[in-house]
Amino acid sequence: MSVQQHALWQNRWTFILAATGSAVGLGNIWKFPYITGEYGGGAFVLVYLFCILTIGVPIMVAEVWLGKRGRHDPINSLRRICHEAGVSGGWTVIGIAGVLGGLLILMFYGVVAGWALEYVWQSFKGSYTTTNLALEGHFGELTASSGQQIFWQTIFMLLTCGVIAAGVVQGIGRSVNILMPTLLLLLIMLLAYSLLEGDGASAARFMFAPDFSKLSGEAVLVALGHAFFTLSLAMGAMLAYGSYMPDDAHVGKTVLTVAALDTIIALVAGMAIFPVVFANGLAPGSGPGLMFVTLPLSFAAMPMGNFFGGLFFALVAIAALSSSISLLEPGIAWLEEKGVPRVAGAIGLGLVAWGGGLASIYSGEVFDFLDKITAQYMMPLGGLLIALLVGWALPRQWVRGSGELAAGSYNAWYLVLRYITPPGILLVFAHSLGLL
Ligand code: PHE
Repeated sequence: MSVQQHALWQNRWTFILAATGSAVGLGNIWKFPYITGEYGGGAFVLVYLFCILTIGVPIMVAEVWLGKRGRHDPINSLRRICHEAGVSGGWTVIGIAGVLGGLLILMFYGVVAGWALEYVWQSFKGSYTTTNLALEGHFGELTASSGQQIFWQTIFMLLTCGVIAAGVVQGIGRSVNILMPTLLLLLIMLLAYSLLEGDGASAARFMFAPDFSKLSGEAVLVALGHAFFTLSLAMGAMLAYGSYMPDDAHVGKTVLTVAALDTIIALVAGMAIFPVVFANGLAPGSGPGLMFVTLPLSFAAMPMGNFFGGLFFALVAIAALSSSISLLEPGIAWLEEKGVPRVAGAIGLGLVAWGGGLASIYSGEVFDFLDKITAQYMMPLGGLLIALLVGWALPRQWVRGSGELAAGSYNAWYLVLRYITPPGILLVFAHSLGLL
């Protein structure tokens, strides 16, 4: 085994929770429902699930395995692995792109998490019953006020940098233990509520009855990008977390658990939101405001709506926090190995991400650009490189001999990673460029 520079999590559960904390975030609760709404529903969901299974999960296994084998920050893990295998050091670009990409994502992610914090504040003020928080107006006002958005984004970034500076191993490991189950519980409560009170039948039809005539090339690319985004792939996060994985944790089994939890939470979020959309005659394709406009409608009509609304948006912010930490960690770990203390790294990279956040607040185009360039281009390309590195360039014996996957699943995984995943990604690119 290589030298262990990093701390390790105590057991496989802490890894599962931290990785789930990274995977489950705004992607599941905010982004998945609104892009499903924009790209037409059922067919989009089906393509997304297909991408998770044939592209996301195989790459996630490969990425976590790379981290566990490398035992360093993403860039140095890759450098060492390539050196040891005698392959080109050029593959290190996966780690570099991951560190940069994580920062780029954080530049709009922190803004959205800030919106969630503002909704927590509104709930504490009792706004669900006293003002028109439930109406579209509030979201419009919030996103029109740069001052308010800067304030809440700043708070969120301070929280992120605070946890990062304190060290991920202790803080995050312990907190996700309580927070993740609570979030799931609340989502299920909202699901039950919206099925009882909302239009569950229309929602189910919208989400699960595929109409392929609505599926554009762009939709397929967005679905692929989202499979990467929601599983936190190709941004160094899984590489970094894999490097903290205890020796006796099994990569195959743990990754499957994380991916399953992530997918279930996204589907539950969709089924908590769309019944409200249809019951209130709202447009499913109304964009990034979807969650912020629909869920307050449920809370306003609920007994103790201010309480549940506040709790829910607080948990959304916490889910975002456990993801944003993993967006920053690869860069911090890399700086740490260069001798920069965590606190200094957290301040430096935090300021960079915060500054980018200002740009997203002042310009909707920057916001959209950051989202698109990361999810639709950097992540699929990074994933393609991970699949090629582990599936083709590194010695086959390395993964097989590591015992990280049971023999049967190893064979299936290796086959998919080599022959399905890379062509799958290329096909989606070709399709979205109109070449197919
Ligand atoms: N998976 C997170 C979400 O769904 C976002 C994320 C992407 C986190 C990449 C880390 C790395 O919200």
